Amino acid sequence: MTRILLSQEIHPEGRKILDGNFDILLPENHSPEAFARAAAEAEGIILRTRTHASRAVIDAAPQLKIISRTGAGVDNVDVEAATARGILVCNLPAVNNLSVAEHTIAMILSLAKDLPAMDRAVRCGAWEERNSGRPIELEGKTLGIVGMGNIGSLVARKCCLGLGMKILAYDPYVADKFAAEDYRFVSGLAELFAEADVVSLHCPNIPETRNMVTRELLYSMKSSAWIVNCARGGVINEEALFEVLHDKKIAGAALDVFPVEPLPLDSPFLKLDNIIFSPHAAALTQEATIRMSTDAAQAVLDFFSGKRPRYIYNARDLGLT
Ligand SMILES: NC(=O)c1ccc[n+]([C@@H]2O[C@H](COP(=O)([O-])OP(=O)(O)OC[C@H]3O[C@@H](n4cnc5c(N)ncnc54)[C@H](O)[C@@H]3O)[C@@H](O)[C@H]2O)c1
Repeated sequence: MTRILLSQEIHPEGRKILDGNFDILLPENHSPEAFARAAAEAEGIILRTRTHASRAVIDAAPQLKIISRTGAGVDNVDVEAATARGILVCNLPAVNNLSVAEHTIAMILSLAKDLPAMDRAVRCGAWEERNSGRPIELEGKTLGIVGMGNIGSLVARKCCLGLGMKILAYDPYVADKFAAEDYRFVSGLAELFAEADVVSLHCPNIPETRNMVTRELLYSMKSSAWIVNCARGGVINEEALFEVLHDKKIAGAALDVFPVEPLPLDSPFLKLDNIIFSPHAAALTQEATIRMSTDAAQAVLDFFSGKRPRYIYNARDLGLT
């Protein structure tokens, strides 16, 4: 039987599609070496977010024909190396938009209502925290969105229609699509960072966006403003982010993603009380987890049954238009 390597176990609903049709391989542990060793036998890989299908892994897998991602991002795949070998890289562009958008909004609301501090206060008997004066209302406040793709545009719509927030957006590639909406697009990040009450990042982590949120932009934010990152860690200058949070130059941050994951336990960020964290969990609702596992498994089943998988990220470069 065709051998499929899972970078990590997937939801049982996804396994149902694979079991009986394929031999399933799992690495001995989470190390890159164990993954490369397991890849040696694999004809297909189902790749979750924490593992990298690096050039070394692809080189170690002479029979590999398809890499099927359980999410939209392919920044953990060496697409160039895969394409050079004729390996399909499949992704799931819309599978978890709703979950990530809702998580982002939950973070914005938690920051606005100071929920983590309120929770801690009740637990330690600090009832007077109710008079802290920190919570604010969001209606009429300005949400600055960087990247108006699938997730950013959903956050914009829900925050505008549901919470009555004003939307300021920066995305050099899609502004025309939103001409009918009540959003204001800016032509540079400087205007967005200076005006927003909340900045939320939804752009990809690509060379063009790496460290795009510079020290200067962070220092230009209002002292009452927050920054939310449910995109990718590499987009923000981390050293400067630590400084502005530590020195209370901005009010706080909510972070789901980090340049190094898991966030190391000696990270100085963990000592700050003006950050809300989640462990790269924005996409991982019950519903999206099932969709991610079943859709990624279906792409593999389709491919080995001679059907075209629904989303092939490198289709054009492979001449599969
Ligand atoms: N936290 C999570 O669990 C999780 C889950 C899914 C996706 N994500 C991340 O969320 C981000 C957005 O995902 P998506 O599905 O909406 O992607 P998308 O491709 O639909 O949208 C990305 C948008 O960013 C824009 N963009 C590109 N370069 C830009 C730049 N220099 N400045 C501003 N905008 C730019 C693009 O034009 C596009 O509209 C990605 O980084 C993705 O990896 C995170």
